[in-house]
Amino acid sequence: MKIKSKIKDYNLEFIENSLQKKDEIFSKINFRKPCYFIDKNFYDIYKNDMDAITGNDFVVIIPAEESNKSYIKLADYFRALVENKFTRGDLLVTFGGGILQDISGFIASTLYRGIKWMYFPTTLLAQSDSCIGSKTSINFDNSKNLIGTFYPPDIIINDATFSKTLSPEYFNSGLGEIIKFHLMSDEKGYSLLKKYLACPDLRDNAYFKRIIKSTLRIKYSYFKGDEFDSGRRNLLNYGHCFGHALESATDFRVCHGEAVIVGMGVANLVSLRRGIMSKEKYEEFESILRRFYPRFDIGKVSVDDLIYHLGRDKKRTGNDLTMILSQDAGKQYKYDDIKENEIRSIYNEFTGNYK
Ligand SMILES: NC(=O)c1ccc[n+]([C@@H]2O[C@H](COP(=O)([O-])OP(=O)(O)OC[C@H]3O[C@@H](n4cnc5c(N)ncnc54)[C@H](O)[C@@H]3O)[C@@H](O)[C@H]2O)c1
Repeated sequence: MKIKSKIKDYNLEFIENSLQKKDEIFSKINFRKPCYFIDKNFYDIYKNDMDAITGNDFVVIIPAEESNKSYIKLADYFRALVENKFTRGDLLVTFGGGILQDISGFIASTLYRGIKWMYFPTTLLAQSDSCIGSKTSINFDNSKNLIGTFYPPDIIINDATFSKTLSPEYFNSGLGEIIKFHLMSDEKGYSLLKKYLACPDLRDNAYFKRIIKSTLRIKYSYFKGDEFDSGRRNLLNYGHCFGHALESATDFRVCHGEAVIVGMGVANLVSLRRGIMSKEKYEEFESILRRFYPRFDIGKVSVDDLIYHLGRDKKRTGNDLTMILSQDAGKQYKYDDIKENEIRSIYNEFTGNYK
């Protein structure tokens, strides 16, 4: 898959069992020497293969925690590279999910005003969503993703086999984004989603690679003409306005894609009550989402906390709250007139229905 970008065009290649194909993969890019940023859990699981790949090269192992994606930690990452005489001719190679991607992308875009970067997304969320689209984000104090740049990798190696070792929560988290993109797609995309979700084993079936590719294609169709997120790409925040607030209000105990699933449920209920979505459509979408609602008592999350975090949404422009509401598959619209009281009453209704 070739992706056009105002920063630099880049390639995404689907390669299974990539850890056994180092020479083939590294010959795709010109560089002097590699340096690796690797997710700690990923390293622990794939230690033998990773040791064989990295050999005597410089490696930084980073636990995938939001606190490591903070501006305070950036100095450590810059220092590690500079002290190890990393030059502009060298290559940063990252193995990890969205946290490692965000850290690496920010470092790659700012060190020496831009270095070469190869990315192996290792979570389902990163493989099917975050690896493309150029965003890099760093947390500032208690605010998530407040600092950032646009900078894509030079090459993405997408190996679907990595998803086999993900925990159920993080697999569902990836599914949350997969579902969102297909609810934002056309009839063809929506019907592929239904076929995929009907498979008994969602990690291992004939549709798994297809659904990842299809998710990436749908995402590309949204940001192609709006890489810097000033128009159509905004719609991809379907489920995110409330989802981000839920992540913050639970101190990130609900992971991103799972929070997006709940966020879509809340947005759909607002859409139903405003008469934007029909009851039939609401029930159809709800039957898809309900299967993947996180096992977390969201009734315990205070609505005041949620409203506080909704009010801090970066995308907000006026006094009221902003949400992407949905009418049907592929029919999502941005509303800037959501009232606090409306959210309070919808949230009460939603938690009453939540199972
Ligand atoms: N830049 C973007 O466009 C973008 C988009 C969406 C989300 N994000 C960011 O991504 C982050 C979330 O990323 P994520 O959901 O990919 O998860 P993550 O990076 O937080 O990793 C999730 C967990 O899975 C583990 N893990 C990673 N790969 C594994 C594997 N193959 N097998 C077993 N365990 C593995 C990690 O160690 C971690 O415990 C958030 O910080 C979010 O803000 C960025």
